Amino acid sequence: MSQEAAANYYSKDFEWNHLRLEIETNPSFLYHLLPFIDDTNASTSASTADANSDSEAWNKFHTRHSTGKFFKERRYLLKEFPELASCRDYAKVLEVGCGNGSTALPILRAKENIVVYACDCSNEALDRAKENIAAANLISAEHRYHPFLCDISTSGFPEWLACSSCQERFCKSNCNRVDFCEVSCSEESSCCIGGVDLVTLIFTLSALPLRMMPTAIQECFSVLKPGGMLLFRDYGLYDMTMLRFDPKQRVGYREYRRSDGTRSYFFSLESTRDLFSSAGFTELELEYCCVKSTNRRNGKLMRRVWVHGKFQRPKGS
Ligand SMILES: C[S@@+](CC[C@H](N)C(=O)[O-])C[C@H]1O[C@@H](n2cnc3c(N)ncnc32)[C@H](O)[C@@H]1O
Repeated sequence: MSQEAAANYYSKDFEWNHLRLEIETNPSFLYHLLPFIDDTNASTSASTADANSDSEAWNKFHTRHSTGKFFKERRYLLKEFPELASCRDYAKVLEVGCGNGSTALPILRAKENIVVYACDCSNEALDRAKENIAAANLISAEHRYHPFLCDISTSGFPEWLACSSCQERFCKSNCNRVDFCEVSCSEESSCCIGGVDLVTLIFTLSALPLRMMPTAIQECFSVLKPGGMLLFRDYGLYDMTMLRFDPKQRVGYREYRRSDGTRSYFFSLESTRDLFSSAGFTELELEYCCVKSTNRRNGKLMRRVWVHGKFQRPKGS
């Protein structure tokens, strides 16, 4: 496939509502639609233990997939989110759950002076991403790429991204100068980088337990400068990978656990909207991307569903 073809971004090969009707009237898929009864009586300490085992599962995942072969740069990313290239000079991007760098790398390529802060709950992932970015020989990557360990389901983002006084100032600032805080912070106290212009959440939110998503989204909101944007892509409801889970893998409503211990949630437009609007975001774009592809090994048709969203932290919020 040529570079040009690989960079295309398709989003409408079929109607999501047709797929929904088909799934919801097929008795063999009924168990996906039933309410989930949780009889485990989850306590706070159980939640922390869950989160630790979730990040351990991801660490093992990245250890198993440590070869360069597994790495695939998301070349469609700039077509889907052109603001990654059209943003101001020296814009700061926070890539949450960076994995092996599939999203961070095209962002670093998009602009010579864009700065990427990338976190993951897995040290293995951070090592892989560093290797992949180093191998790409980008201009000044060492000054523009800042990886750090962070589990967003157990801890907030570090203060150096946006300190408490900066966050307070974000809330009070009613002007359109989103660089205000950065200037005052670095001049007065050098306490933090003054927040970020863009947050990317690309196939990361689905890896968290549903009950921990509101806090994680709130964290993203708090480190974004007013007027900044959160770019979202993740698994959509009735994606073929959801329909392949068997009943024993269900761990919640639309939540599943893979055999390697990692989790996956499948988002509807409504659940996505609720999560982001509850955190204070304004919805700019939200749609299903429905793409047909053929499995190269068995020739079977695959109907993939993803959710694409752009959300803005309102100016003056
Ligand atoms: C499917 S990968 C997506 C990676 C990357 N965003 C991309 O576009 O390819 C999900 C990543 O989220 C990370 N992750 C899962 N739970 C996390 C958490 N609670 N905090 C931070 N990272 C997490 C995993 O280690 C994994 O690297």
